[in-house]
Amino acid sequence: MSLALVPAPSSVEQLSGAPFRLTENTRLTGDPDAAATLSALLRARTGSAPADGGGPAIDLRLESGGAAESYRLTADEASVTVSGADAAGLFYGVQTLAQLLRRDGDDWIVPAVRIDDAPRFPYRGVMLDVARHFHSVETVKAYIDHAATLKLNALHLHLSDDQGWRLQLHSRPKLTELGSSSAVGGDAGGFYTKDGYREIVAHAASRHMLVVPEIDMPGHTHAIGLAYPELVEEPVLSDLIRDSAAARGEDLPENGVPYQGIAVGFSSLRIYDEATYDFAADVFGELAGMTPGPYLHLGGDEALGTPDDDFALFVSRVSGIIADLGKTPVAWHEAGLAPDLADTTVGQYWGYATPTDGMDDKARAFVRNGAQLILSPADAIYLDMAYPDGPDLGLTWANGPTSVRRAYDWEPGSLIDGVDDDDILGIEAPLWSETARTLADIETLAFPRIAAAAEAGWSPATGASELRTWESFRARAAGLGPLWSSLGIRFHPSPEIDWATE
Ligand code: ACM
Repeated sequence: MSLALVPAPSSVEQLSGAPFRLTENTRLTGDPDAAATLSALLRARTGSAPADGGGPAIDLRLESGGAAESYRLTADEASVTVSGADAAGLFYGVQTLAQLLRRDGDDWIVPAVRIDDAPRFPYRGVMLDVARHFHSVETVKAYIDHAATLKLNALHLHLSDDQGWRLQLHSRPKLTELGSSSAVGGDAGGFYTKDGYREIVAHAASRHMLVVPEIDMPGHTHAIGLAYPELVEEPVLSDLIRDSAAARGEDLPENGVPYQGIAVGFSSLRIYDEATYDFAADVFGELAGMTPGPYLHLGGDEALGTPDDDFALFVSRVSGIIADLGKTPVAWHEAGLAPDLADTTVGQYWGYATPTDGMDDKARAFVRNGAQLILSPADAIYLDMAYPDGPDLGLTWANGPTSVRRAYDWEPGSLIDGVDDDDILGIEAPLWSETARTLADIETLAFPRIAAAAEAGWSPATGASELRTWESFRARAAGLGPLWSSLGIRFHPSPEIDWATE
């Protein structure tokens, strides 16, 4: 029987002996943070957490020497030991232990097993768009909790877009005073206070997740114009934007009026006005002071309202502003061909699993500069795409609808010719929120496809492990349904997977 482990560990050996049996006398020993994490998971899954009994122990310990984020787990009849090379590794070992737990009659058992595990890539992210629809601090914290169970370690927050600005900044107070009240479809907007943002950052850190804030520029900037009209150009309205807005019955964007539609690519900051760069310096400077992680994301996607040369000039200057703050800039792949991009800039590829329209050239340019890529193939791991068989949620523009199998069936090391593992910082599964209004919407769109993304980021390459096949993933993910339900995750019960019920 396959163990319900997702992402697949580097090495799993099922042992022949009797399983470890949880009893009311089971002891949790070792690292108190890891014990608290395990107690919460056991309480959710089994209804109770071990008290300080005198029985066989689950020992959770830090043992230096292994690779970053790695852990080892051994279970037999007498004991369970999880040793992490660092606190993150121990946390991930505890997540694996929660996945191993299963019912045996009235008991809960951990099968006899030995697991040695370490991530393939250091960056394993999810992105949440809080601009199209605003999502509260509590919603973001819940998404962090649930994504972390799959060993994902970065939360990219898309904090600004045409429909709204979502972060309070003292240097530019009008952004939230005037630019935050709207959202797609006339829904309520909102924003994070500085304390709210810090609360998200701290909660993420407690789950070993980095926060990567994105302020999208120079396009996707209509909401900035509500606050600082002198910084933005008039909307550029292509035939495509006019036709698609008409088809959806939406108003066209108009400067000074909150935008509630879902068109993209019409807005631009003024490229030849120094005030724009003063603005970027204020915004990224204040953000740098509130963000302990190394990355600040400057956007750079779909700047269709900005001429190409102006775009190149802009992303080069803004990447320099971020690098001068001591942070690592991240930009969507469009920025790759800009000649003077700060050479540390990480590129984020959002083209298709089979690249089109030269998107792979733009991504390769980051690598030629000596920088790395985050891979987010849109027709595989854009979690906001509709399911073929799902609820009435999600979009379809990225070759959608997107099945769980399509989310699984791609391999990072062969996605872009000339881009090898060393060139890849990691993977990230974005969730844009045009249709996602609630935590339930987010989770239904994300789970189970987020598990496929997690496996691409953590597990051995396709072909390097017998576990890295769709059939194996399908069987392992099936066993996670009961754990996800007990954690309150409202996953889509996709018919592609034969979900276990217990
Ligand atoms: C994107 O999907 N515009 C990055």
